[in-house]
Amino acid sequence: MRNPQLNSHGELQHLLTIEGLPREILTAILDTAAPFTEVAEREVKKLPLLRGKSVFNLFFENSTRTRTTFEIAAKRLSADVINLNISTSSTAKGETLLDTVDNLCAMQADMFVVRHASSGAPFLMARHLAAMGLDHIHVINAGDGRHAHPTQGLLDMYTIRHYKKDFTRLAVAIVGDLLHSRVARSQIQALATLGVPEIRVIGPKTLMPTDIDRMGVRVFHDMRAGLRDVDVVMMLRLQNERMQGALLPSPQEFFKYYGLTAEKLACARPDAIVMHPGPMNRGVEIDSAVADGPNAVILPQVTFGIAVRMAVMSMLAGS
Ligand code: CP
Repeated sequence: MRNPQLNSHGELQHLLTIEGLPREILTAILDTAAPFTEVAEREVKKLPLLRGKSVFNLFFENSTRTRTTFEIAAKRLSADVINLNISTSSTAKGETLLDTVDNLCAMQADMFVVRHASSGAPFLMARHLAAMGLDHIHVINAGDGRHAHPTQGLLDMYTIRHYKKDFTRLAVAIVGDLLHSRVARSQIQALATLGVPEIRVIGPKTLMPTDIDRMGVRVFHDMRAGLRDVDVVMMLRLQNERMQGALLPSPQEFFKYYGLTAEKLACARPDAIVMHPGPMNRGVEIDSAVADGPNAVILPQVTFGIAVRMAVMSMLAGS
């Protein structure tokens, strides 16, 4: 069966997940993003690649980085950007997701950027558009439930490639709440596809999916052992909003065992980079001395996110 994200020519039609995307497409997105960093950093003002196109941001969950950087990226490509305010939209009156989509299609939407609490919502939209014969309209998943956050995974890969150059020599550790993290799933899929030989996941048993080793990762519950000699440390946010029941004794206890401090970071390579997708819980997932320290590349991740999102949108639009 064809990957629903690809058209019959093997080109990106939607970006719904990293899973199943070939290395060539991931590399093409990273390569396309590289020149856009000049626009992201405002050395070049605007490009006309999405002129005349309408991009609708549909964020059914809160966001600072993803929503804003998609808006900036679309505007720097000269698109018209419409941010639907979900709390004041007709969703609050009970309108279904697909009825909302149909109405926005009637307003000549060209692209939807969607974040939703339900895993699979962007897939549902893409399938609906195909059934309606609206193949010219594209869907980008900006995070769905616990499932996927593909542009976060891609901007993280861009960041790693920027600082470390060669994926095939790296040891990468992902730390924290693996159980509820859509970011971690996209990161692991992207790292594996791009040829990273050593992917470690570190966290307490209560926050680790039981079958995660099937993704080709090494599981550690001892953070110091897991961080030994790694090149990249990717911290995760505790997804408190998705936790049911008491999975953690307390934030203080979590910080003691799995919070990134300078002392624990010393187990990694001296030139290891420290990443976090945000929003950070300082003093729970990461100590401020590390988050603001010389190894941290957390704010460059955000800037690279603009370039990567420009790349994805321009590739979807066939520009
Ligand atoms: N990393 C991330 O998705 O951040 P936001 O929730 O602020 O978009």
